[in-house]
Amino acid sequence: MRVPYLLSLLPALVVAQLPLPNPPFLPPDIASGAQTSSGGFPNPKWSSLLGTLLYFYDEQRSGTLPSTNRVPWRNDSLILEGRDVGIDLSGGFYDAGDFSKDTFPLSFALMSICWGATDFGQGYDLANQTAYLDDTLRWGLDWLIKAHPNDTTLVVFIASADEQNAYWGGDRSIPSPRPVYTITNANPGTDAAAGAAAAFAACSNLYAGRGFSNSSYSAPASLRNDSYANTLLTHSQQLYSFAVNATGGRKTYQTSVPQAGVAYASSGYGDELAMAALFLSWATGSATLYQEAEAYYTRYKLADSNRVFNWDSKTPGLAVLFSQINQGSPSFGGNFSTWRDTAEDYFDDVVNNKGPGYLLQDGLLYYDGDSDDASLNPALNAAMLLRRFAPMASSVDKRVAYTDFAKSQVDYVLGKNSMNVPYIVGVNPNSPKNPHSAMASGGIDIGNIDTDPVEEAYVLYGAVVGGPDKRGRFFDIRSDWPQTEVALDYNAPMLTLAAMHVAADTSEPYYTSLQAGAYDQVKPKGRPCDSAYQDGCEAGRLNKKATLAMAIVVTVVGLALIGLSAWYLILLYRSRSADGGKF
Ligand SMILES: *[C@@H]1O[C@H](CO)[C@@H](O)[C@H](O)[C@H]1NC(C)=O
Ligand SMILES: *[C@@H]1O[C@H](CO)[C@@H](O)[C@H](O)[C@H]1NC(C)=O
Ligand SMILES: *[C@@H]1O[C@H](CO)[C@@H](O)[C@H](O)[C@H]1NC(C)=O
Ligand SMILES: *[C@@H]1O[C@H](CO)[C@@H](O)[C@H](O)[C@H]1NC(C)=O
Ligand SMILES: *[C@@H]1O[C@H](CO)[C@@H](O)[C@H](O)[C@H]1NC(C)=O
Ligand SMILES: *[C@@H]1O[C@H](CO)[C@@H](O)[C@H](O)[C@H]1NC(C)=O
Ligand SMILES: *[C@@H]1O[C@H](CO)[C@@H](O)[C@H](O)[C@H]1NC(C)=O
Repeated sequence: MRVPYLLSLLPALVVAQLPLPNPPFLPPDIASGAQTSSGGFPNPKWSSLLGTLLYFYDEQRSGTLPSTNRVPWRNDSLILEGRDVGIDLSGGFYDAGDFSKDTFPLSFALMSICWGATDFGQGYDLANQTAYLDDTLRWGLDWLIKAHPNDTTLVVFIASADEQNAYWGGDRSIPSPRPVYTITNANPGTDAAAGAAAAFAACSNLYAGRGFSNSSYSAPASLRNDSYANTLLTHSQQLYSFAVNATGGRKTYQTSVPQAGVAYASSGYGDELAMAALFLSWATGSATLYQEAEAYYTRYKLADSNRVFNWDSKTPGLAVLFSQINQGSPSFGGNFSTWRDTAEDYFDDVVNNKGPGYLLQDGLLYYDGDSDDASLNPALNAAMLLRRFAPMASSVDKRVAYTDFAKSQVDYVLGKNSMNVPYIVGVNPNSPKNPHSAMASGGIDIGNIDTDPVEEAYVLYGAVVGGPDKRGRFFDIRSDWPQTEVALDYNAPMLTLAAMHVAADTSEPYYTSLQAGAYDQVKPKGRPCDSAYQDGCEAGRLNKKATLAMAIVVTVVGLALIGLSAWYLILLYRSRSADGGKF
């Protein structure tokens, strides 16, 4: 069962993409998230979770919304974006809790979703979510195509003129026109161009039905469209050439566009070059491109930057993709077992707690630094890579260890944590209620975003939030962006994991066992300790200071007592002496 029966009867209506279900899929009501399903395969709860995670991307849309818009509280916005600079840049997605459009993390999110739907596409098909997947991807990719008006121009950033987070309010009065920042031949951005090339190539593979293996994974999601796949491939090839051969040389994009580096500064471009070359090698069957990817891996010493997988850092994913490609195509001249070993060295450290990541007391995989803002993201990306790699593992023991570890992180995110919070908005009564989202909050006063209004105006269904702090504590405060902000790339790995669970799991998602009030019973007191709330850390430090003060007091009192005793003895002696003097 791949394409819903009804859809196959309506090919004449198929114009640009798969027709959307009618009536549409809508996120189920929150209370139903505290009940188990009637069971069966696919599991209805996993299916609706996948749909709800996709729905988040509808909530983030910019531009003229289609007649099929499912989000009743969203309006058309910034429909003339780019007109002042002669490029139609309307559409696409708002990146996170405010209204910027950020090409670099967008490219990563699209790449991640397409790669996931290539390997675990059956999950989307079984859940009847493939038409929404298609709709979501095209909303992003069609904008990325517009952001690439010619070979050597890519729009990398659009945001308010003054300060990036300055406007806080609804979608009808976003200040515009906004400055549009581009990379060009003279002022290039190797990472941004190669990152977009990787996204286009990964999505071309999906739309062309080019899965990675004939045995380990399911078929790609059923949205095949060869002409669209070719369009995507052309953009990928042009952007890859631009990344490799820009006349301005190779450099990070914030070197050319410092404004874009405020929120998403890239730490290097070797990983994006390798990823683009790899996805392109698979798309075109090119051993030369494959060899180039290996050369980048060596030249840019990527093995040394093997830490987390995220919008900036792609290296842990490279070993997995190298393995997949070598397993699928021995003719490229790579060595499957070498790449498998590289991936296993990395994953063995992750699952055996050998650093640099470690487990928080309540079970979250945590990386100092990378996990400090949005703690769930490194863990979810690791879980996603582990699940993808597990079928290629060299032993049954490793396969089981990788799969179990990935499941532990997914369970954590779905509520098996010390807070009893499933960190996805609107899926359970204990879900976060204050995601840092200007649109969903309904507020307009940036100085009082926690209290204006007290309750969020709209439920931002399906949004994966940042996550708990380093002590596993979650405060659900709107202004606490490290914990409560939402973003396109936060949802991406969870989509792939949910699709995988739809296709391979008959048990219920963890949150169905969490009853209303579970979070309130354990909700932490005090303040968070993170980049937005230094005062919580102050409290922590005061505690340390207080301990020190206490120790000093004890010591001083102790010394004083000793001193007093000595003084008393001396007095006694003296008085005795005095007395004695009288003796
Ligand atoms: C494939 O995609 C192209 C480009 O969006 C579109 O014009 C065409 O109608 C699609 N074909 C099918 C069969 O959906
Ligand atoms: C998908 O659609 C088919 C056909 O309409 C239906 O039988 C099935 O129950 C649906 N599955 C889910 C998970 O919604
Ligand atoms: C590419 O597009 C940009 C933005 O529209 C424009 O300024 C530039 O002249 C174009 N370059 C070429 C070579 O067409
Ligand atoms: C969309 O417009 C409606 C009606 O004017 C308004 O109530 C709503 O708050 C708007 N949505 C957002 C996200 O601003
Ligand atoms: C996968 O492909 C290889 C070579 O292309 C072939 O030898 C092998 O039998 C295939 N495996 C499966 C399970 O189809
Ligand atoms: C980069 O330029 C060189 C020299 O012109 C050319 O051989 C090569 O194919 C170009 N690379 C890409 C990816 O376009
Ligand atoms: C791959 O590398 C391993 C050593 O890591 C070696 O034993 C093996 O022969 C190589 N395989 C091929 C096909 O070159």
